[in-house]
Amino acid sequence: MPGRLNGKVCVVTGAGSGIGRATALRFAEEGARVLCADINVVSAEGTAQLATMAGGVAKSREVDVSDSTAVDAMIEDAVSTFGSLDVLVNNAGVNIPGVLHEVSDDVIERTLAVNVKGQIYGCRAAIPHMLASGQGSIINVSSVNGIVSEPFLAIYSASKGASVMLTKGVALDYAKQGIRCNVVCPGWVDTPINYAHAEMLGGLEHVYATIDSFQPIGRPGEPSEIANVILFLASDEASFMTGSVVAVDGGMTSQ
Ligand SMILES: NC(=O)c1ccc[n+]([C@@H]2O[C@H](COP(=O)([O-])OP(=O)(O)OC[C@H]3O[C@@H](n4cnc5c(N)ncnc54)[C@H](O)[C@@H]3O)[C@@H](O)[C@H]2O)c1
Repeated sequence: MPGRLNGKVCVVTGAGSGIGRATALRFAEEGARVLCADINVVSAEGTAQLATMAGGVAKSREVDVSDSTAVDAMIEDAVSTFGSLDVLVNNAGVNIPGVLHEVSDDVIERTLAVNVKGQIYGCRAAIPHMLASGQGSIINVSSVNGIVSEPFLAIYSASKGASVMLTKGVALDYAKQGIRCNVVCPGWVDTPINYAHAEMLGGLEHVYATIDSFQPIGRPGEPSEIANVILFLASDEASFMTGSVVAVDGGMTSQ
């Protein structure tokens, strides 16, 4: 059985943990060649090793997606290592919750630099290679907070709303040139990015004990459950999808 991403060259940012790690592993299982990039190069290397042990082809590298030069170098690394670029997953993100009128400039700047500029830089660097080959798939990882907000997440929500609109803009601009761009909006998934927010809501144990009050499925999502949707969007099975906003949220935004 050929894999669903056989031979495709894929870059995943934030690949050292959570959704990014699960996505890189799923891609490798489906025959992709994966560049696993993260600001934490040790964890990115851990993902690449797991992918390789599972029979895939993967390489790690350090990137801070808020640095446009570093993002350009990441994309060039994928192309020079593997020969082309087919898929980019702009997944790296930060979530620094706070009461809006108490939030520092640093928090505002870091959130927008990583979550918004990071995705813009990724798209800008990837698109010339996709134009050259006449095809490509970009998946931006936003959040349910790109659609609805929650207490203490005004800045994060602003950044994730921008991700949704970036996706639509890219989708429109390149629809006739074979480049698809879609965005996934996960609900509450069991990863470290949520720990600070959980503390503000009364602790992770409390959040999980009461999760059906906001996530109707009644449990946190698993990173693999988001990765499976990203895999579909990356693959040719999603050939008629571009500009789509795909909630993967256990029903959260149905309320
Ligand atoms: N976990 C959730 O409930 C949830 C829900 C909605 C959206 N998301 C989004 O999913 C994405 C992945 O988050 P996760 O849940 O896997 O969290 P995570 O904390 O497990 O992983 C985030 C990864 O991003 C990396 N990273 C952070 N800043 C970076 C930077 N500047 N450059 C490169 N890498 C950087 C971290 O080192 C980490 O490996 C994020 O964009 C997040 O906003 C998560």
